[in-house]
Amino acid sequence: MKIQPPLSILVLHGPNLNLLGQREPQIYGALSLATIDSRLKAEAALLLVDIVTAQSNHEGVLVDKIHEALGRHQGILINPGAYTHTSVALRDAIAGVGLPAVEVHLSNVYRREEFRHHSYIAPVAVGQISGFGANSYLLGLRALVYHLQEGQGEGKEQGKS
Ligand code: DQA
Repeated sequence: MKIQPPLSILVLHGPNLNLLGQREPQIYGALSLATIDSRLKAEAALLLVDIVTAQSNHEGVLVDKIHEALGRHQGILINPGAYTHTSVALRDAIAGVGLPAVEVHLSNVYRREEFRHHSYIAPVAVGQISGFGANSYLLGLRALVYHLQEGQGEGKEQGKS
């Protein structure tokens, strides 16, 4: 059996998520981004995958990070924040690198203002998880890892009828 190196996932947090914990806690919860990142690291260790986390308030920096993921990471977990609803550039970057991406949101964007109901990212993502607070990230990481592992050969029984 061929030994596979551990999967590596890039976790990207978009604008204003550096303020988590103090930013509208009634919507986004009381946990800081550092706490969410450390929970993600613990979850990654359980799943036997590596993760690298990054946050930026700048669209172009996020685009660069998505480009740099090529050849370094096998998938992207992204909370694009407000860029979800505005950014063709982020959508094109994800489509351009062709890496599987899972979109996550702390809040349930579909229960909020109308302008949050549209995502430019969702059509180029494997899937979206929204509304479970910090657990959206943990669920998203698990979903992405399962998706990637299926591609590596596990879960092939799914194709059988
Ligand atoms: C968010 C939802 C977005 O609409 C908002 O602009 C954010 C956070 C979330 O995680 O719930 O910044 O992505």
